[in-house]
Amino acid sequence: MANAYISGTGFYVPPQVVTNDDLVKKYGIETSHEWIVQRTGIEERRFAAEGVGTAELGEHAARAALAAAGLQATDIDMILFATLSPNYAFPGSGVLLQRRLGVAEGDNPRLIPAMDIRNQCSGFLYGLYTANAMVRSGAAKHVLLVGAETHSAALDLTTRGRTVSSLFGDGAGAVVVSATDEERGIQGVHLGADGRHAEVLCQKVWDITKRPFVPLDDEGRGLVEPDHLWAQMDGRKVFRHAVMAMSGALVDACTHASLELGDIDLFVFHQANLRINQYLADQLGIPPEKAVHNIQRYGNTTAATIPILLAESVASGKLKPGMTVGLAAFGSGFTWGSSIIKW
Ligand code: ACO
Repeated sequence: MANAYISGTGFYVPPQVVTNDDLVKKYGIETSHEWIVQRTGIEERRFAAEGVGTAELGEHAARAALAAAGLQATDIDMILFATLSPNYAFPGSGVLLQRRLGVAEGDNPRLIPAMDIRNQCSGFLYGLYTANAMVRSGAAKHVLLVGAETHSAALDLTTRGRTVSSLFGDGAGAVVVSATDEERGIQGVHLGADGRHAEVLCQKVWDITKRPFVPLDDEGRGLVEPDHLWAQMDGRKVFRHAVMAMSGALVDACTHASLELGDIDLFVFHQANLRINQYLADQLGIPPEKAVHNIQRYGNTTAATIPILLAESVASGKLKPGMTVGLAAFGSGFTWGSSIIKW
């Protein structure tokens, strides 16, 4: 059985920087740079321009990852697209990315499968689990895995929504998962979920138990109440569960790989909140210099945080072949996951 390794990484963030002060001055939100930095570590985030959607952000990241892997889009056997902010309710952004990459065009069209992964902040790890299984089983030689989000279109950028809207930003990261006979690569991916907390962090938009699913006005236009339109979150509950689940998942990943936490050279955690990650590192005795962060610059980009960090770490030379990397994420669902990769 082949091993699966990450043969290329890439990322893209839109050019518009929105600082914490911009939230106050441009959007009129009653908040402050100090409040946001103290509780989350976030200093600024990126917002995509009107007209730009999640598949487009994902395309930029995907093309960078393919170039880094030395591959053409037509070499890919499958697309996995992790997002909680797809372009449409359906179809998923995976098929839109496939169209953007042009693989179905020309004399030798490749109508490769494209699957959306709907596991929020754990979406990248759920995708990595799937990509690893597809490559190791021999069903695919190269899987393109993208995590991308356009949060800015669906944030309540008013004082009412500040607890959630100050946290999120737009961006995309991508990896190519490829087969290799070498003794390296993904050492396993460990996933978990606890649906008892499904509504603790949730954006309903509609309720499919209702007839019709969105109430209508007299002219037949849909009416969505603010608490359905915007994400709702019990932040303190998320914080507590995130620390517990991510530390448990990391320890599990080490046990399965017959490693100690101290054997891991670099930790790449989901970027929900700098405080969550510092607390997690303290609990597990992880030295600060072994963990990378970018939440200060991008906020929480949900499914994109880990692949963006991987791509940035490769580009900066912090992540080099031969190193052992530990990944962990937690998010809405609740869902969580971890992985150890011999890079
Ligand atoms: N600026 C100023 N004041 C604010 C802001 C803001 N951006 N947001 C909330 N407040 C106010 C609230 O209105 C509240 O005011 P009140 O006491 O007058 O009612 C007060 O601050 C305290 O609100 P809490 O929600 O209790 O604030 P808390 O200290 O819990 O911090 C936070 C909120 C930062 C969200 C924290 O709970 C947290 O970090 N939770 C983790 C959740 C998380 O990171 N989610 C990310 C997405 S999930 C994921 O990716 C895993």
